Amino acid sequence: MSIRLSNGSEIPIEMHKIRIVQKVRLAPVRERLQAMDEAGYNTFLLRTRDIFMDMLTDSGTNAMTDNQQAAMLQADDAYAGSESFYKLLDAVKEIFGYQYLLPVHQGRAAEHLLAKSFIKPGDFIPMNYHFTTTKAHFNLVGGTVLELFGPDALVTESDKPFKGNMDLGRLKETIDKVGAGKIPFVRMEATTNLIGGQPFSLANLHEIKKLIAPLGIPLFVDGSLISENAYFIRQREPKYANASIKDIIREIMEVADLCYLSGRKSCSVRGGFIATNRKDLYETIRPWLPVYEGFYTYGGMSSKEIEAMAVGVREMTELEIAGSSADAIKYLVEQLIENKVPVVTPPGGLACHVDAMRFVSHVPQSEYPAGSLAAAVYIISGIRGMERGSISMDRDEEGNDVPSDMELLRLAVPRRVFTMSHFQYAADRIKWLYEHRSMIGGLEFCEEPPILRFFAGRLKPKNNWGAKLAEAFEKDFGPNC
Ligand code: F0G
Repeated sequence: MSIRLSNGSEIPIEMHKIRIVQKVRLAPVRERLQAMDEAGYNTFLLRTRDIFMDMLTDSGTNAMTDNQQAAMLQADDAYAGSESFYKLLDAVKEIFGYQYLLPVHQGRAAEHLLAKSFIKPGDFIPMNYHFTTTKAHFNLVGGTVLELFGPDALVTESDKPFKGNMDLGRLKETIDKVGAGKIPFVRMEATTNLIGGQPFSLANLHEIKKLIAPLGIPLFVDGSLISENAYFIRQREPKYANASIKDIIREIMEVADLCYLSGRKSCSVRGGFIATNRKDLYETIRPWLPVYEGFYTYGGMSSKEIEAMAVGVREMTELEIAGSSADAIKYLVEQLIENKVPVVTPPGGLACHVDAMRFVSHVPQSEYPAGSLAAAVYIISGIRGMERGSISMDRDEEGNDVPSDMELLRLAVPRRVFTMSHFQYAADRIKWLYEHRSMIGGLEFCEEPPILRFFAGRLKPKNNWGAKLAEAFEKDFGPNC
């Protein structure tokens, strides 16, 4: 929720009290430089003891509510038939309107089961944009991902409200070209992660459904950030201005044939599920659940997490909770714009995205500008963000780098974790870095895993730019900052 101040400006306002806290430390810049060296210039490989603000992800890092924590005490740890499962099923029926539920240990496990159940070699899966683990799973079973985004999707500075929409013309062309028989499903991702957390509109979803339903192609929604997408629909799609988040989520689910999600984001719990009303889809997936995840009533989640998820699924439909990170992201984006830092607009869900292609325009894509920027931000601030650019793309079959459509530094905003002063600190340090951006150089790989290389790859800075940047920072702020 945002609130208007007497001077007319808006600030995000916390609709909660903070009653449990976790200590963090701001390591001095020299220590941060050393930590970055040891991490191979890959923010995934840092240790949290060296991190001041962890903005790597909003996944599994949200603050739970007291009600979620309390529910965990009631966990029924039965291997089969656990009451905790039935509580989650009730919540999914109420919020999603779906009666069939397959719990999984996290989002990518759902992707694995969907790939295993529906995709054959030679199939094509149209989507608004890929997510890293989605693409990996769909490719592993021989499928080809087709990203059918519209002309606005990749324009970083924009006022288009729904850059996560699918281009209907491109979808029609694809179906004509490859044939409906080669398309096991169409996937729409709520607030498309890799292009700046940009939502789709309900109008777009209805249009997609109208086109594919007569051809027998089902529509799957990745609902990991469903409450944020619903929040944006309420804000940006005039027809829904007075609708509740619950009503909007319900309508999305009525249009979709199936929803799967990582519970680690909107639901603020570690886990995930697949849900649907289509018995045929459910029965195709169901046999694989105990093979890869766990028995039907826990599917790889602990009963405690299932309990917390049952609460989280309902709570995410409360307006203040659905908008808690979106409003903070908007604030940070606006602060950075004020400081002339290039960011993705309009502000999206999950993170503030800094446009590395414009921030370090002197670093060529072959030297991973978003990776460089992520490392530089950590060195000068202790803030850990995530590279979402060419390092996050794996090489093609010939071993060539695949340049990413966008080079973004993602500064994720976990729900209810940071305060205003944190965001002000972040905006200030990034402003300093922007003024010293010419000092940031490129990166090259030293160790490169063959798949999802961004997780464990190690890189090094060209011409030792990290050390020079740390030195300049120390000169301005002193050794203890
Ligand atoms: N789908 C989307 C849209 C996601 O953002 C993620 C994870 C997944 C699926 C996979 O879910 O992590 O529970 O297995 N996104 C995390 C992130 C990793 O940091 O953005 P998971």
